[in-house]
Amino acid sequence: MNLLLDEVRRATARLAEAEVESPRADAELIAAHVHGVRRGELHTVPDEAFDAGFWRAVDRRAAREPLQHITGVAHFRHLELSIGPGVFAPRPETEVMTGWAIDRLRASDAAEPVVADLGTGSGAIALSIALEVPSARVHAVEADPLALSYAERNVAAYRGREPGPGGRVRLACADFGTALGDLDGTVDLVISNPPYIPLGAAVPPEVGEYDPPSALWSGTDGLDAIRAVQRTAWRLLRPGGQAAVEHGAPQGGVVRAVFASGEGWLDITQHQDLAGRDRFVTATRHCP
Ligand SMILES: C[S@@+](CC[C@H](N)C(=O)[O-])C[C@H]1O[C@@H](n2cnc3c(N)ncnc32)[C@H](O)[C@@H]1O
Repeated sequence: MNLLLDEVRRATARLAEAEVESPRADAELIAAHVHGVRRGELHTVPDEAFDAGFWRAVDRRAAREPLQHITGVAHFRHLELSIGPGVFAPRPETEVMTGWAIDRLRASDAAEPVVADLGTGSGAIALSIALEVPSARVHAVEADPLALSYAERNVAAYRGREPGPGGRVRLACADFGTALGDLDGTVDLVISNPPYIPLGAAVPPEVGEYDPPSALWSGTDGLDAIRAVQRTAWRLLRPGGQAAVEHGAPQGGVVRAVFASGEGWLDITQHQDLAGRDRFVTATRHCP
């Protein structure tokens, strides 16, 4: 066994002891990041190239700093996004909802479907849709200027690339309750992964100490932002347009109820994440 693989084995034990959820994967990804190779290429790093910075990074992860903050990047569908303090690290659960939206947009008759991403954070959802549905025009709203600066960086990084999704994302620094008034009644699809954790709920250190509070907490029942998203989606969507909103696993029933008590949503549907947990609700604005 080469030195790096041996160190990865020791680091895995260290991270497991620190109760990190996926210790082996994280140790391998840190080793790959520090040595500038892919995860599957760790065995190619010669012993003399071992970088002691590996253990400094492992120490940070053992202190429960999120992996994405240590590497500075998050992988989301086909994207590599810049991530750091002040912005929410996108999660795999959200990839499923984004995939649902991409499928709907690809199946739509609209030549240039208009999309609104409410609370865009790093721009993960908006950029994925722009990359995977090149005909879409995506409006991404974010209220937190620091989070928005990451979205700006990520959109700029993809602006020059072919097929150039960055050029089709428009960012707005605004509260999504009142944003995008010029688009009222014209949007084909509204998507949001808003904050949805009830105030005071227990969360792991990676979340509570590193994700920005504005990305997490949402009133005593966790539903304040979801109610605002429901109202904004109703305002923005054209008749027949669709909304998708992510929520916490136990919140499926109450989120469906938020839409059911709205003005006239059709096809209110519960969807699960890859682990089979309730994760997002979709609904269609009725056609008068
Ligand atoms: C859970 S994070 C999701 C970020 C990104 N969409 C993702 O899935 O990775 C929620 C985001 O919504 C933003 N946000 C919260 N309330 C907002 C509001 N009223 N208006 C606009 N953005 C808001 C937060 O700052 C945060 O960036």
